[in-house]
Amino acid sequence: MIVPVIVSGGVGSRLWPASRQSHPKPFLPLENGRSLLLNTYERAASLESVADVVTITARDSSFKTVDEYEHYDGGPVRNHYLLEPQGRDTAAATAVAAAYVAGAFGDDAIILLLPADHVILDREGFRAAVAKAAQRASEGRIVTFGIEPTGPETGYGYIEVDGENAVRFVEKPDVATAQSYLESGRFLWNSGMFCFAAGSMITAMQDLCPEILEKSRLAIEKGDREEFDDGRIETTLDGETFAGVPKISVDYAVMEKVKNLSVIRADIGWSDVGTWSSLSESFARDADGNSAIGDVAMVGAHNCFVHSENRLVGLVGVDDIAVVDTRDATLVVKKDKAQDVKALFEQLRDAG
Ligand code: GDD
Ligand code: MG
Repeated sequence: MIVPVIVSGGVGSRLWPASRQSHPKPFLPLENGRSLLLNTYERAASLESVADVVTITARDSSFKTVDEYEHYDGGPVRNHYLLEPQGRDTAAATAVAAAYVAGAFGDDAIILLLPADHVILDREGFRAAVAKAAQRASEGRIVTFGIEPTGPETGYGYIEVDGENAVRFVEKPDVATAQSYLESGRFLWNSGMFCFAAGSMITAMQDLCPEILEKSRLAIEKGDREEFDDGRIETTLDGETFAGVPKISVDYAVMEKVKNLSVIRADIGWSDVGTWSSLSESFARDADGNSAIGDVAMVGAHNCFVHSENRLVGLVGVDDIAVVDTRDATLVVKKDKAQDVKALFEQLRDAG
């Protein structure tokens, strides 16, 4: 039995102005008009042997999430929501997920942990990778999905690989280290998806981060559970207890230290679409290399991307830019500077 757990949290500051506190990155639309979150849900819910999907997200965006999932037109799935009064990063989210799934489905249930804001172009490849991962997870392994690296990215985890084994996991190395990893040819990027038996994660956390596990368990126990007419089950974590859970990512808290780590090579058209430039790469381009969502007209523009939510946007004679137009803000950025949108986001935030 596989239970997908969708983790949906972070803001995605490099995708300002379409991604912000009130409208986080998972809600951004892809080419098919459906959000990253809904695409993730469809990928998970349509897996064979999946009858339940768990989503862990902010309490305040739960209504939007429930609305998104209503667009799913596959077979019946029971939805479980674990709602956080505040985000405590992914170690906490993983602990809550493991404790909840173990309680509801038993220690042997296989969790497929999925970030809500990735693009995966090859769905068949995804299914095949998950089947392999689930097999290893049922043998007690904590399984990562490794992506062939294409540059010395410092925003990713790196997995050193020896055949089928993961030798070590290093989260977000500096650029010189990342470069040396690339040159060695022994490292893959960590995709951020994980597969493990609920009981394996609980055992690992008892050893590596017991406080996170215990407080997360308690936050469920003391939380509010509600069952709705549409069959969905919502558990709102106890705010006071959850606020006391140490804030650290699962990569640092568990993956860097755990002994029983495995890796599956996943050539699945994966991208974490961190910037407008990388998001635009998941869109089909016209003969001039342009792509767009929304109402757009272009003359003599090349290699541009437009995301327009309300207005008609026109481009004339410009190359290599992304234009993002929302209700109350417009961004124009050179595609090769798309990383720096984060600095703009921070400047605006600090200015209040
Ligand atoms: N529910 C919940 N609560 N979700 C969260 C929280 C939280 O407090 N914090 C983050 N998330 C969600 C994000 O929305 C995202 O879907 C996922 O968890 C991963 O968090 P990120 O903050 O995006 O992590 P990252 O991108 O820095 O690094 C991770 O992903 C990389 C690949 O994209 C790591 O796993 C890296 O090793 C990996 O390479
Ligand atoms: Mg990320």
